[in-house]
Amino acid sequence: MSLLKVQNLTKEFPLGFFGKERLKAVDDVSFEIERSRIVSLIGESGSGKTTVGKLILKLIRPSSGQILLNGRDITQIKGRELREYYRKVQGVFQDPFSSFNPIYKIDRVLDMVFEEFFPDTPASERRTKMEEVIASVGMNPREILGKYPHQLSGGQLQRILIARTLLLNVELLIADEIISMLDASTRVDILNLLGDLRERGMSVIFITHDLSLGYYISDETFIMYRGNIVEMGDTEKVFHNPIHPYTKMLLESVPEIDRKWDLSKRFIPELVSSSNAPCKYYDRCPIRDERCLVQKPAMVEVEENHKVLCLKAGD
Ligand SMILES: Nc1ncnc2c1ncn2[C@@H]1O[C@H](COP(=O)(O)OP(=O)(O)OP(=O)(O)O)[C@@H](O)[C@H]1O
Ligand SMILES: [Mg+2]
Repeated sequence: MSLLKVQNLTKEFPLGFFGKERLKAVDDVSFEIERSRIVSLIGESGSGKTTVGKLILKLIRPSSGQILLNGRDITQIKGRELREYYRKVQGVFQDPFSSFNPIYKIDRVLDMVFEEFFPDTPASERRTKMEEVIASVGMNPREILGKYPHQLSGGQLQRILIARTLLLNVELLIADEIISMLDASTRVDILNLLGDLRERGMSVIFITHDLSLGYYISDETFIMYRGNIVEMGDTEKVFHNPIHPYTKMLLESVPEIDRKWDLSKRFIPELVSSSNAPCKYYDRCPIRDERCLVQKPAMVEVEENHKVLCLKAGD
C-alpha cells in the first residue's frame, strides 16, 4: 500500500467579483507516493502546486476527490484522528518567518510539539530529544534553543521547521518553495537534509518552479499545467524522454540540465482557455489536431512509471 494516494482531486475557486465562473485550480489530479521517496511537483506560477499541498495538509477542503494516507481517506477526519494525521503529515513553506510566533523562543516552539502530541514525555527527555534533532539538522543546540525567531536566519528557521518534523517522526513532508529565499550554500545544505530525511524513511513532496532543482533532488517528477498533472513518473524518464508537448517545451529551453531555469519568470497563462478545448494545453500546443477539440485526454502509460496526459502520447 502506498503512503499517500490522491484520487481525482479537484479544487474549484470562484473567479471574479461575483464568483459566477469557477477556476479549477486543481483539476482531477491522481497520484501515489511510496515511502522514502522525494517527488517534485513542478509547474509555472498559478499551475496549482500550492493548492495541491494545502489540500493534502487539510488547510483547504477539496471540491471533490480523495486523499488517502496509508489507505485511509482523510478528507473527512476530525478531532483525535486529525491530530494523529498532523503527527504524520507536515508542511514547510517558503517564508519561514511567518511560521513562527515571534514571542516564543525556539525551545518553547519545539516544546509545544510535546505538549500537543506527547504530553507525557518528561522534561529531561524533551530537552535531550530537542538537542538531538537540532544537531541532526546541522546546528548547535546551545546556540539555537534560547533564541527568538528574529535572532535566526531564514535558513536556520527552515531547519528548525524540519527539526520539528523529526520530533514528530513525520511520514510525509510537504516542502513548498522552501529554498527559494536562501543563499546558494544554505540551499545545498537543506537539499542534502531532505535526502537524509528520505534515508530515514520519510517522503517529501518538493514543490518548485525550478526544473534543475527538481532534477537534482527527486526520484519522481510531476509536471503541472493549469491544474492538471500533464506528465509524471521517474525523474530520469520525464527529463530524458519527455513526451507531453508542454514538458518538451520546458526542457528544450534548458540545453544543459544544470543550468538554472526558473519557471517563476515565465508568463502566466490565461485562466480561461479561449478555445474551450477539453485539453488545457490546446491553445499553445504545436501538435494539436481536430481530435483534441472533442476528446478529453486521459493519462497514458508510455513506459513503466511514466505517464502522460495527451491524446497523442500513444501515437
Ligand atoms: N483562495 C483562493 N481563492 C481564489 N483563487 C485561488 C485561491 N488560491 C489559489 N487560487 C488560484 O488558483 C490557482 C493556483 O494557485 P496556486 O497557488 O496553487 O499556484 P502555484 O502553482 O502554487 O503558483 P506559484 O508558483 O506562483 O506559487 C491560481 O490561479 C490562483 O490564483
Ligand atoms: Mg505556490
